Amino acid sequence: MKGWHFIIMGTVVVLTLVAAIGYALRPAPIVQPIQMNHKIHLESEPPEGQEKITCITCHKYFNTRTVAGRPSIQTCLSCHTTSSKEKEKRPELDKLLEYDKRSEKILWKRIYDLPDHVFFSHRRHTRISQQSSEGAAAESRKKHKDKESGKQIQEPIKCEVCHGPIAETVTPPPAPLNEITMEFCIDCHKQENVTADCIACHR
Ligand code: HEC
Ligand code: HEC
Ligand code: HEC
Ligand code: HEC
Ligand code: HEC
Repeated sequence: MKGWHFIIMGTVVVLTLVAAIGYALRPAPIVQPIQMNHKIHLESEPPEGQEKITCITCHKYFNTRTVAGRPSIQTCLSCHTTSSKEKEKRPELDKLLEYDKRSEKILWKRIYDLPDHVFFSHRRHTRISQQSSEGAAAESRKKHKDKESGKQIQEPIKCEVCHGPIAETVTPPPAPLNEITMEFCIDCHKQENVTADCIACHR
C-alpha cells in the first residue's frame, strides 16, 4: 500500500470511530410512561360551566413555588374516570386507568433538569401568569404602566420562551425543545437588567 493510501485509510477509520463514539454518547431519548398529548388538552373546549384547560391545570405550582410541578395521577383522574373501552380504542387512556387499578403512581421523567448547583424559581419568572400560550415569545415581557401607582409593571415570561412549543406537541418530546444553557439565562438577564452575579444562580 502506498503511503498516501495509508493516510487516507487511517483518516477514514479515525473519522468513523469519532462519529460512532459521538453517536453512542448522545443523550438517550426520553420515553414517558404514557403518551401524553399536550395539544389535545390545551385545545379542547371545556364543558358548560368549566374552565378551559391551561398549563396550571396540570403544572399547579408555577405561580407559587420554585418547581412548576408535574401532575399526579389524581389530577389526570379528575377528568378521566370512565374506561374508554366502549368507545373507540384509546390505548393511552387505558394505560392511565390501569395505573389507577394497580394503585400505582405515574413516574413522569424529567426533560429539563438543571445541575443541583443552579437555583431556578418558576414563581420568580412566571408570577401572576395564568398562562395563555398565545403570542410571540419575543414579546414575552411587555411593560405597561400600572394605573394606580404609575410604576412600570413587567408582564410574566411566557412558558414557551424557555420551553419552546410544548403546547403544540401531540406526544411527549424525547428531548428538550429548547436548550437551556447558562448563556440563555444570562442573555435575558442582561437584556432585562436583572443581576448576572454568579451567586444569584449558583447558591
Ligand atoms: C381538566 C380535564 C383533564 C385533565 C386534568 C386531564 N385530561 Fe386528558 N383529556 C381531557 C380532554 C378534554 C381530552 C380530549 C377529549 C377526549 O379525547 O376525550 C383528553 C384526552 C386525553 C387522552 C387521549 C388523547 C388522544 O390522543 O386520544 C389521554 C391519553 C389523556 N387525556 C391523558 C391524560 C393524562 C395522562 C392526564 C394527567 C397528566 C390527563 N389526561 C389530564 C381532559 C383532561
Ligand atoms: C393535561 C395535563 C397537562 C397540561 C394541561 C399541560 N401539561 Fe405539561 N406535562 C404534562 C405531563 C403529563 C408531562 C410529562 C410528560 C410529557 O413530557 O409530555 C408534561 C411535561 C411538561 C414539560 C416538561 C417537564 C420536564 O420534565 O422537564 C413542560 C416544560 C411542560 N409540560 C409545559 C407545559 C406548558 C407550558 C403547558 C401549557 C401551555 C402545559 N405543560 C400543559 C401534563 C400537562
Ligand atoms: C425563564 C425560564 C422558564 C420559564 C419562563 C418557565 N420555565 Fe419551566 N423550567 C425552567 C427550567 C430551567 C427548568 C428546570 C429546573 C430545574 O431543573 O431545577 C424547568 C422545569 C419545568 C418543569 C419540570 C420540573 C418542575 O418544575 O416541575 C415543568 C413541568 C415546567 N418547567 C413547566 C413550566 C410552565 C408550565 C411554565 C409557564 C407557566 C414554565 N415552566 C415557565 C425554565 C422556565
Ligand atoms: C426571558 C428572560 C429570562 C430568562 C431566560 C431567565 N431569567 Fe431569571 N429572571 C428574569 C427576570 C426578569 C427576573 C426578575 C424577576 C423579578 O423582578 O422578580 C429574573 C430573576 C431571576 C433570579 C432572582 C435574581 C435576584 O434578584 O436574586 C434568579 C436566581 C434567576 N432569575 C435565575 C435564572 C436562571 C437560573 C435562568 C436559566 C435557567 C433564568 N433565570 C432565565 C428573566 C429571565
Ligand atoms: C442567570 C443565571 C446564571 C448566572 C448569573 C450564572 N450562571 Fe453559571 N450556570 C447557570 C446555569 C443554568 C448552568 C447550567 C447549564 C447547563 O446545565 O448546561 C450554569 C453552569 C455553570 C457552570 C458549570 C459549567 C457546566 O458546563 O456545567 C459553571 C462553572 C458556572 N455556571 C459558573 C458561573 C460563574 C463563574 C458565574 C458568574 C460569572 C455564573 N456561572 C453565573 C446559570 C447561571
